[in-house]
Amino acid sequence: MRTLPLLALALFGGFTGCAGPSLPPFAGSYQHAAVAADHEVASRAGLEVLKKGGNAVDAAVAVSFTLSVVRPESCGIGGGGFMVIRFSEAGVADQRRLGRSVPRQVALNYREMAPWAVGPDFYEKEDRFASTHGGKAVGIPGTVAGLLTAHEKFGRLDRAAVLAPAIRAAEKGFVADESFVSAAKETAADFEKNPAWKERFRFVWERMLRKGKIKIGDVITNPEQASALRLIAEQGTAAFYQGPIAQAMIETVRRDGGVMTHDDLLRFRVASVEPLTFQAFGRTFLTMPPPSSGGVAMAEAMGILGLILEQPLRETQEKIEKNNPPRGFFEAIAAPGGMALPYGPMSPWYCHRLTEALKHAFADRAEWLGDPDFVDVPVARLVSKEYTGLLARRFQPERTLPLDQYGTRESRTLTSLSEDLGTSHLSVVDAAGNAVACTETINLGFGSCLAVDAFGFILNNQMDDFTTRRGQANAFGLKQSDRNLPAPGKRPLSSMTPTIVLGERGEVEVVAGASGGPRIITGTMQAILQRVGFGRAAWDAVQPPRLHHQWSPNVVRLERGFDAVDGATGVSLVGELQRFGHRVEPISGVGVVQMIARERGEWQAASDPRKGGKPAGY
Ligand code: GLY
Repeated sequence: MRTLPLLALALFGGFTGCAGPSLPPFAGSYQHAAVAADHEVASRAGLEVLKKGGNAVDAAVAVSFTLSVVRPESCGIGGGGFMVIRFSEAGVADQRRLGRSVPRQVALNYREMAPWAVGPDFYEKEDRFASTHGGKAVGIPGTVAGLLTAHEKFGRLDRAAVLAPAIRAAEKGFVADESFVSAAKETAADFEKNPAWKERFRFVWERMLRKGKIKIGDVITNPEQASALRLIAEQGTAAFYQGPIAQAMIETVRRDGGVMTHDDLLRFRVASVEPLTFQAFGRTFLTMPPPSSGGVAMAEAMGILGLILEQPLRETQEKIEKNNPPRGFFEAIAAPGGMALPYGPMSPWYCHRLTEALKHAFADRAEWLGDPDFVDVPVARLVSKEYTGLLARRFQPERTLPLDQYGTRESRTLTSLSEDLGTSHLSVVDAAGNAVACTETINLGFGSCLAVDAFGFILNNQMDDFTTRRGQANAFGLKQSDRNLPAPGKRPLSSMTPTIVLGERGEVEVVAGASGGPRIITGTMQAILQRVGFGRAAWDAVQPPRLHHQWSPNVVRLERGFDAVDGATGVSLVGELQRFGHRVEPISGVGVVQMIARERGEWQAASDPRKGGKPAGY
């Protein structure tokens, strides 16, 4: 990696604590309610529904259906997801007035399920694309069931009102932006290498990729998806899982060699579960339990990090003492209840600790995580103080450990690490203080590339998130254990980490989550740490460079902006990390985070500039 004589910390100077006209274009500050999605049209759909009297759940459902239209490369009704909901006291009282009794918090799991014909060996004998492209890659889609369950249980408006913005967007079309075009070009390059896909995946090739000629500013309409959404608005879940959409979906999948059946669609279930709850940095975190690995990994990494940040800083003491007043890497803003560190978030000492904590969490992810309906997942143990304490005691301030000393398994080394373009996160808070964190996915960019043409939606390739071939990594370079082998009705392990952070009195402080495959976990965690640990405004929490380490491959990846030499000390971040034993490589992006945070009575909202989204609110 190039080492530039720049003071990277200058990146933090731009927007801190500002309001009004000086907010960056990807941010907003609102008095009552906020929506942060990775597309402005989707954020505005949420705002429209909030203004009509909808609550945060109505808004989240409207945003998600709209994302199905305007981010077809990332998510949609052919995919699945997770939603974490926190009701305020006022929100609970409102639900009571509607004749409902609701918990203060709930997590909805509408992750795709494996078709019943798929067993553990299904992909072992298939070609290498079977789990990523075409009919065999498709898991039973869950998004429509999940969104309508959320809406029926907790929404205030009628179904037509929450679907209206999405139907409009599908009819009117969306403008291809930089993020869409970049995903489309990447997929088009794969089509050029596999020319038969142009006919096989015609809807994606012609409508979405414009035969490889897609450019910024092109308008893509989708009247077919508008008709699907209209049917869903009129008939509810049955329209998707039983009616003409179901018929078209099964015909499409089976014609392409897939095994999904009508019975599979009828078997799909949304699970309502307790969010995974843990304490860190004086806050309560509500996040997604398995089959997401995201919550467990974040809880474990946060637990370890809290302990190793507190350890004596012998190796940095001399440098710290020489820096008075603190400058460069040593400049750190301590948030109330956050981290009181003698160094900042871009210093090698912080990055080393963060990386070491992540390596333990990802090592355990690889070994222990899977769908808890099918395998034992020792969640309580992995996030316990006893276990994180044990791992923290292995920490060495000036060196990395042999790979087999992270978590609890033997070392394995892998090489590949692909981008995730097939996921989208949205965050919502309403005027009553209710909050929704929702992450949804069709897995890789444009999912399986197989579309249900007549209804204009793309089917997921979530089956690749299983351990499809024992001992081999998936498209994200993640090697996973036999706990994550496919089985009929099982849900593949995910990294999605929709998270709500509560302050001391149980009030919502932060709503966040990300897209980015395994970088969802590292992206979400670092943005939240920037907010609760270093006290950054939401936009400054989301924007700064982030790092990623997923234990295997054994390399720490740094976004642009980390390749800096500290002006105060002459210390190079990369040089120090290498001295500690890290292999360092650049990476184009570590997650795309949408965050809303409470600050001095306002909701600060930021849609990660890495994808070009924009929040909305009032
Ligand atoms: N498909 C990305 C994830 O669920 O982690």
